[in-house]
Amino acid sequence: MQSKKLASIPKGISMSEILNSLHRVYSRMRMREHEMRSVLMLKLGLQKQVWSHGLFDELQYWERVLSPEALKANTDGYLERLDPQQKLEERFTELINVPTGAPVSILDVGAGPITSMGKVWDGHSVTVVPIDPLAERYRELLDKMHLTPPVYTVNVEGEKIGEHYPANSFELAHSRNALDHCYDPMVVIQQMVDSVKPACFVYLWHVKNVADMEQHKGLHQWNFDHVNGKFMVSSEQKSYCVNDELAGKATVKCHDDFSSPGFPAVVAVIQKSSGPANA
Ligand SMILES: C[S@@+](CC[C@H](N)C(=O)[O-])C[C@H]1O[C@@H](n2cnc3c(N)ncnc32)[C@H](O)[C@@H]1O
Repeated sequence: MQSKKLASIPKGISMSEILNSLHRVYSRMRMREHEMRSVLMLKLGLQKQVWSHGLFDELQYWERVLSPEALKANTDGYLERLDPQQKLEERFTELINVPTGAPVSILDVGAGPITSMGKVWDGHSVTVVPIDPLAERYRELLDKMHLTPPVYTVNVEGEKIGEHYPANSFELAHSRNALDHCYDPMVVIQQMVDSVKPACFVYLWHVKNVADMEQHKGLHQWNFDHVNGKFMVSSEQKSYCVNDELAGKATVKCHDDFSSPGFPAVVAVIQKSSGPANA
């Protein structure tokens, strides 16, 4: 019986090639099922369930880019992040208005395992507080890779910053390529604005319309764009005009950024009001 089945395999195809093909078909079916389940959950308004469902896909990315081979080639530019002497970039220092010698605290939301923010700015002591809901899994990954970041990421969801840090704590709040992964980016932006001191800034860098680019798969549910000077954050279910949402609390300015070749980005620079309501 078995030899009859084997005899029907076309010549020149090995058993391992057949098993690999079957495995590929099975993986594709699992992925499709995963996508269909996400679409259904989104239709039912279960954003947070879709989010926790997709969150762990993120670990595979970091496992790859933090491998010894990838770090050695530094194709993804993560080596700089491991340097405790990495300088805080000028696009950030120019937003921080403190006297020389004053300490500076920066919140980095959705920082990943190793924050991208520099920790050195002449004349200031800089404290970076990187937060991410995968912090514990990232710690395990870094230990496995024998890597020590200049500062470890803390386990906090962007939507819950206020439960962990008092309002008016930071000189700057930053998020890069992370709000599209969150289950409610507008709540995260509100929390980031609350977290900075009066008249201080929130700086957001995101690939333009990243959810469309990623075909709304997995964690990529949110698009970022600017339309007639307004910063727009939208999913297939909801759309926020961030300028309107923050009216009276902060002002929002946007510009394009082409510093990452092939990934046109939108930068939103949000300044919290200095009024008594925010003091
Ligand atoms: C593509 S990574 C970007 C990491 C880092 N900012 C960078 O640019 O390299 C997106 C990060 O967002 C995090 N994330 C997902 N949901 C989040 C949430 N609700 N609050 C904060 N971060 C979140 C993910 O765990 C992941 O580490």
